[in-house]
Amino acid sequence: MTKTIGFGILGAGLIAPFHAKAVRDTKGGKLVAICDMAKERADKLAGEFKTKVYYTLDEMLQDPEIDVVNVALPNHLHHDAVLKCAAAGKHVLTEKPPAMSLQETDAMIAACRRAKVKFGCTVQCRVRKAIQAMKQAVDDGRFGKLLHADAIMKWYRSSEYYHSDAWRMSRKSGAGVTVQQAFHYIDLLQYLVGPARLVQARMTNIAHPGIALEDTLLAFVDFGCGAQGVVQASTALWPGTDVRIELNGEHGTAIMAGEKMLTWKFRDERPEDAAIRSLGSTSQATGASGAADLGHADHTVVIQDMVDAINQDREVVIPVTAVRPTLEIVLAMYQSAARNQPVALPVQDDESIWAWQS
Ligand SMILES: NC(=O)c1ccc[n+]([C@@H]2O[C@H](COP(=O)([O-])OP(=O)(O)OC[C@H]3O[C@@H](n4cnc5c(N)ncnc54)[C@H](O)[C@@H]3O)[C@@H](O)[C@H]2O)c1
Repeated sequence: MTKTIGFGILGAGLIAPFHAKAVRDTKGGKLVAICDMAKERADKLAGEFKTKVYYTLDEMLQDPEIDVVNVALPNHLHHDAVLKCAAAGKHVLTEKPPAMSLQETDAMIAACRRAKVKFGCTVQCRVRKAIQAMKQAVDDGRFGKLLHADAIMKWYRSSEYYHSDAWRMSRKSGAGVTVQQAFHYIDLLQYLVGPARLVQARMTNIAHPGIALEDTLLAFVDFGCGAQGVVQASTALWPGTDVRIELNGEHGTAIMAGEKMLTWKFRDERPEDAAIRSLGSTSQATGASGAADLGHADHTVVIQDMVDAINQDREVVIPVTAVRPTLEIVLAMYQSAARNQPVALPVQDDESIWAWQS
């Protein structure tokens, strides 16, 4: 018999309402509680969604109605929260990046394994239909030899966005464009064409004076499969345009813009290709112009998967183990920028990663 799965959202900030709406839209999931140490924020969101409210994670973890905690805290706080959730026997869905280092990520994975709880990550762009079609085409070998895999993210975030909370201006809290916004699209490249073997990155701040972060990343990536790629990511480019994911192989090219399939062309045209060309919508905002300029449909798919995984006693579709290689690429990019030289993977955690020289 399927059980109703209770969710508690930890952190009632910018992304929390998207989780709340997504839980509400699942079949078999129930939003039980909101928790934030900022009382007004917690009260406001709990009032809107008519849930219980907690002001500390410890209190929320004692609630027997909660099966899953959605960790929606600033990036540097994920690690401690996930360890506590695992120790309390709660399943966890953490926001991206899973943590600030590989060591922390491995400790979180080990704790969840020991506690036999599921541990997923909301890199929700993976579930977009256009991305799923690209993944299928890669798995079916339709591209032939993969030649290029690129992510082009020309976005905009205002100075007010960065000043809205201290953690948004701190590299150690995970606020640079590479680990914060571009993480999703570096993740898509990693998901689609596999782990990287070498990266070379340059990071600059071109439009947010007074903030000690990179607002712009330019990077080359060599993937283990032989493809090469470019990641161009910025929050400096007003008004912000839809991110593009581009795959080129010897036998085909696919390009997604935002969530819409823009180009889908293979030498072996198949009957299903016409429908694939119309996947996604140009009217769905995907974060280009502002942090809250998003829908919650992709989060709903990820949260529905958590509900189903618990009820079916199976692994979630996006476990943190599958996102660890993305964090590794991102950390290698920071190392490369700090050292001004290419970095081969695997990388080791290193304090220089979070240093910033303008
Ligand atoms: N998946 C996406 O598309 C997406 C989009 C935006 C943000 N995010 C991620 O979501 C997470 C949260 O980002 P945000 O923009 O919502 O941040 P935010 O700063 O708006 O919200 C975080 C909240 O956590 C609360 N908090 C901090 N420490 C706490 C503690 N110890 N106990 C309880 N509450 C605490 C703060 O008071 C704040 O309200 C980050 O990991 C970010 O990367 C993901």
